[in-house]
Formats: sequence, C-alpha cells, structure tokens
Amino acid sequence: MAEEWATFGADLHLDLRDAGQGTGLRAALMDALREAVRSGRLSAGVRLPSSRTLAADLGIARNTVADAYAELVAEGWLTARQGSGTRVAQRSVPRRRTGSGGPGGQGRPGGARQGAAAARRARARPTYDLKPGMPDLGSFPRAEWLKASRRALTAAPNEAFGYGDPRGRIELRTVLAEYLARARGVYARPERIVICSGFVHGLSLMGQVLRARRVREVAVEAYGLEEHWRLLTRSGLRLPALPYDELGTRTDGLPGMKGVGAVLMTAAHQFPLGGALHPDRRVAAIDWARASGGLVLEDDYDGEFRYDRQPVGALQGLDPERVVYLGTSSKSLAPGLRLGWMVLPESLVDEVVELKGHMDWTGSALDQLTFAEFLESGAYDRHVRAMRLRYRRRRDELVAAVAAHSPQTRVSGIAAGLHAVLELPAGQEPEALRSAAWQGLAVLGLNRFRHPDTAPAQDGLVVGYATPPDSAWSGALAALCRVLPAP
Ligand SMILES: Cc1ncc(COP(=O)(O)O)c(C=O)c1O
Repeated sequence: MAEEWATFGADLHLDLRDAGQGTGLRAALMDALREAVRSGRLSAGVRLPSSRTLAADLGIARNTVADAYAELVAEGWLTARQGSGTRVAQRSVPRRRTGSGGPGGQGRPGGARQGAAAARRARARPTYDLKPGMPDLGSFPRAEWLKASRRALTAAPNEAFGYGDPRGRIELRTVLAEYLARARGVYARPERIVICSGFVHGLSLMGQVLRARRVREVAVEAYGLEEHWRLLTRSGLRLPALPYDELGTRTDGLPGMKGVGAVLMTAAHQFPLGGALHPDRRVAAIDWARASGGLVLEDDYDGEFRYDRQPVGALQGLDPERVVYLGTSSKSLAPGLRLGWMVLPESLVDEVVELKGHMDWTGSALDQLTFAEFLESGAYDRHVRAMRLRYRRRRDELVAAVAAHSPQTRVSGIAAGLHAVLELPAGQEPEALRSAAWQGLAVLGLNRFRHPDTAPAQDGLVVGYATPPDSAWSGALAALCRVLPAP
C-alpha cells in the first residue's frame, strides 16, 4: 500500500518563504513539489494532503494549492482521482521545456541515450489517455445512481432476490422499451428485450445462435473493432468485409456476397470513421435482409451522442423482424456497469433466451432494478443531456486546437460520439504514433481498426476526447498538437 502523507511529516521541507504572492507562490509550490518528487522524498503512489490541509499548513490560499496540484496533474507529476485524492504519479518523468513547439511549450527530451529510455517509459505508462472507447468515468452520476439504488432496493419484491428470467427484470425491460422507442426510434416490446452484460455479451450470444442456424459468414464493416470480430470468429463464423466510401458502408454489395447470413453494422455512427450510414445504404441493408432472410446486427454503441442535430434513429425501426438491435450503457454511463440490451426479432427470442439460460441465466437483478429506476425517474435523460454538452465542448476545443496548430490536418467524424479521426498524410501514421509515445500520449492509429481484407486507404489517429479528467485535458490537447504536422 502507498505511504500516506503523514508518514513524511517534517521530512518534506516546502520552503516558500521567498516566494512572494499569487502566481509566484504557486510556481514556488510547484517547484518545491517537483523537487520533492524528483529527489524521491515523495515516492510514486503517495497521497498528498488535501488542498485545504496543505494550504492551512503553509498559511497560503487554498486556491493556490489547488491550482498548483491541477497543473502538476496536467504535467504528469501527480494524478487526481475522485475518491482517492491527489497522488504522486507512477511515472513522474520530468520533461524538458524547450520554450517552443506548440501549446504548453514542451518539446521532446533531448539526447539519444536519455531519449530511448524515456520513450520506453512513456510507452509503458502514458500521461494522457486519448484512446477511443471510454466515456468520462469521473462524471459517473454517483449521487443519482445511489438514490436510484436505494429506491430500487426498498421497492424490490422478495422474488427479485431469487433466480430470475434469463431475459432480465421486467421492470427494466418495460422502461427500456419506452425509452428506446422515444429516444432511438426502436420498435421495442418488453418481451423482445434481453438484458445482457454489455454489447459484447449480446454479440457473442448472436454468434452462437447464427452458427447453430448454420450461418457460415457474417459481413462486417471495413473498419471496426478486432475484439468484436474475434467473438464471432470464435463461434466458427467467417467475416468478409464490406467496402466503405463517402456514403458509408457499401451495403449495396451484400446481394453479391453469397453465403453471408448476417451483417454487423454501426449504422448511426460508424466506428471508428464516424459517419452516419447514408439513407440509401440503410434501405439497401434492409432490402438485402428481407430478400435473403438475413439479419442485420445493429451496434448502437453511442447513439445518444449526436451534437449538431437530432440523433440518427436506429436502423431497427425500418424492419424490427430483420434487425437485431444491440445497445449498451458503456458510453452513456460507464462500461463497468456491464449493462447492455438486445431487441430481438420475434423469431429469435426463444433461441436466444434458451441459450442465455444455459450459459449464465441472468445478470444482477439489483443493478437492473437500479437502472430501471434511474431511467424512469428521468435521471438518465438528464445525465445524457449534461454529458452531451460536456462532450460537445471537448470536441469543439479539439477541433479549434487542431485548426490553430496544424491547419492542414482534417478532423473527421465529429458530428457524434466520443472520438474523432485526425487524418494524416499517407505514410505518416507510424511516426505520429511514435511521437505520441514520446509525449506520454496514448492514442491509436486508424489502421489498427482496418479489416485485414481492406486495402489501406487513409492514415490517421483515432482520438477519444471524453476520457481525460478536466485537470489533464489541456495538457492532453497540447501533447496531441505537438504530434501533428506543423503548418
Ligand atoms: C463500436 C463499439 N461497440 C460497442 C461497444 C460497447 O461494448 P460493451 O457494451 O460491451 O462495453 C464499444 C465500446 O468501446 C464500441 O466501441
């Protein structure tokens, strides 16, 4: 366990006597803390006193301490997490200031010997996380969730503590049906909904059901998540890729793909490229499914987050008998909840429920009842609205920073979701990723999402802008700008 601040007592000499006032005091405090970390007097993982306590100890304003902590978090010396306070970061590697090279003025550490070691450390433990896929975990609505949980527990009937329906709690399926119809245009009835442990659980159930139905191939998009593809290949399915163009995934090619029994799609917001499927292509997918008896597996992973106009409705509304709708709370709330849902065509309900009953029966009834309460009380709508504003602001700041520091870099896929694609000139992705590692920046290249049968078409970085806490956001943006081509 990390040592607590109190263990250090008088050992930590923060001498601020000559520091003056205001920003001078803050700078002196930051220097003193950096020095304490550098010299090892404050070791990795140690919890610092609260800003109130340290301010009282030093006889200075609390804001001065809070500002100094925030800046040291942004620089990577400290970490701040709700509930566990401010701690010395595991990787407190000082980075030299060059006085130039983008916002923040931090450049690459000089010297080849120091460089190789620093690069290795930076790769091992990034300071800033801009990988796509995660919402802002610090904004999880703890207080509202706790209230919903209390209400749910108080009202839960005794039978809720027994083995339940493999489809999940009826209370949740009922309010979810109403919500999905209202917010996502899904044709949903409670008896057709199956609650599962996130999208991946629903997808693996579907993989097994399709294989049991003797489907051999599921078409996938040219870009997507390898982890999801692997779930399907593990069921014995082959995954040919559909090409992608400016209208989105070429669903018009489906009739020519004999042997394909289903298609997996992110129609509302292609992952990771970010476009919405063109209406003609939506219709083409449904026409193919009707004519061939095939199924569309619709991954609606972040449908709530559309910024510049109304969210694009779910494809499922076009034909609920041919589309399996898969939704999740992983982006709108938190992946740790492991709460997802499937809305099934009537013809699939029995097969899916039987398989699920054999495998894992049902998830936690209390979490499901809490989520039902959270939805019904309007807390979910309020949370999604607040997060939409927050993420839109982040997106705007990202676009503005890129325009200012690398005007030739196009930012695409920005109308929705929690990530954007920064397009790079051909061949520059590997160097940009290396440079990001130098900067202590975790970010992913576009090509890692490319299906193996798809020819390389575009280099880029896929930037998830929801993850960094506020205290690290401007530092993360500055590091990102240093990675991009200069004007
Ligand atoms: C494209 C896509 N679909 C679905 C999910 C959600 O998966 P789950 O609900 O299993 O957390 C993610 C999460 O990163 C995703 O990126």
